[in-house]
Amino acid sequence: SKGAALVTAVAQRLAARRRQVDETLSPFRLSQEQLTLVKNRMSAGLEAGLRCKGTSSVKMLPSFVYRTPDGKEQGKYLALDLGGTNLRALLVTFKTGLQQNTRMHHKIYTIPLEIMQGTGEELFDYIAYCISDFLDYMGMKKAHLPAGFTFSFPCEQTAIDTGKLVSWTKGFKATDCEGHDVVEMLREAIKRRNEFDLDIIAMVNDTVGTMMSCAYEDPQCEIGMIVGTGTNVCYMEDLKNIEKTKQNISKMCVNTEWGGLGDDGSLDDIMTPFDIEVNQNSINPGKQRFEKLISGMYLGEIVRQVLLDLTRAGLLFRGRVTETLKTPGMFQTKYLSQIESDRIALLQVRSILQQLGLNSTCNDSIIVREVCAMVSRRAAQLCGAGMAAVVDKIRENRGLNHLNITVGVDGALYKLLLRFTIYFSSLNDLIQSNLALAPQCDVTFLPSDEGSGKGAALITAVARQKHI
Ligand code: GLC
Repeated sequence: SKGAALVTAVAQRLAARRRQVDETLSPFRLSQEQLTLVKNRMSAGLEAGLRCKGTSSVKMLPSFVYRTPDGKEQGKYLALDLGGTNLRALLVTFKTGLQQNTRMHHKIYTIPLEIMQGTGEELFDYIAYCISDFLDYMGMKKAHLPAGFTFSFPCEQTAIDTGKLVSWTKGFKATDCEGHDVVEMLREAIKRRNEFDLDIIAMVNDTVGTMMSCAYEDPQCEIGMIVGTGTNVCYMEDLKNIEKTKQNISKMCVNTEWGGLGDDGSLDDIMTPFDIEVNQNSINPGKQRFEKLISGMYLGEIVRQVLLDLTRAGLLFRGRVTETLKTPGMFQTKYLSQIESDRIALLQVRSILQQLGLNSTCNDSIIVREVCAMVSRRAAQLCGAGMAAVVDKIRENRGLNHLNITVGVDGALYKLLLRFTIYFSSLNDLIQSNLALAPQCDVTFLPSDEGSGKGAALITAVARQKHI
């Protein structure tokens, strides 16, 4: 009958549409072999970075942090944390042996885009202004506090209190900073302001701060990981392996800058057309290729590119490409984690899309949720594959058959994406299957609380003990 023919035609159309959507999404599905390749490339990247005198895509920067805290830290410190989209100022007080008794006060300042991408002097003047405001707020303008500066960008350090910015990452692009000592720039800005004094004792990466603050709770913590605006990992490396430093101590924390993996083209085979687009439209094309597959600054953009493509192909939103859909940054990563959450009903997905000015049918909502799930699942898997390389390296360094280790984790994306925790806990499976012949690693993830700032204060305390 006519009715039956119509039903068949609709069913066929739906099946065809399904096939096309599957085809578009298939490059996001990574096989076990591909993930093993990523792990191996990360391993090679870690090795090359440690050996290399010049540049390598995984930079492996020495941090001059030689040990994790031992509970003997004490005193009052100012911590400054500049990394994603804001600056945090913290006042941290440690009392010896009383780990629960750490006291913290903090204030958050947003960094306006024109400051992130203005001149270096403006950026550091703004930081000095924030410190001044915070000291006023705390009534400590005259205190001349010891300070730790968490500066979450790749820096070449030659001591704990100096660091030359190698290159900006994430959303920053302030001029006249690359190649300069950022601690010196901060000191100069404070001098220009001429209102208060600070004794800047340590400069650290956020991964290092996170590792330190988690190690304060759990001595097995020797890795720090951030999955936020950007992504990165640091870990305690045997000093004999760090050819860049020749000193007579056993370990040093290395900031891997793993986000740079693939900058030499080594991940090109897993890049989808959408990743290529996101990379080209970013402020640092060709850089941070691994980071661009994983972190908060980019996942929303990847999803937007996929939605745009599906809409252009007539598979979504009745083929209507809206202005919103064409607007970079309109699909923020926070929507992605909301939409992807299994607990929310399709109606809610629809209302989120509505807020974004996208009128969706039920079918559209299903597809959008699928896109979000694929993109975040891949991010978690890649992160797991990278981490497998790191823990395996530590296990080999120590000649162990079995390694128990804790990873301190921070970053809004890690906390937002519930799925991440699920994938991270299946990380062990991934590591095991990647190490068919090798022994096992047990990895525990410990979410940090105010990690990078508190960690900077701890490092300042540790560095000060050394001077005493
Ligand atoms: C970027 C930075 C790195 C930082 C990470 C997380 O990858 O280059 O230094 O640790 O973001 O904030």
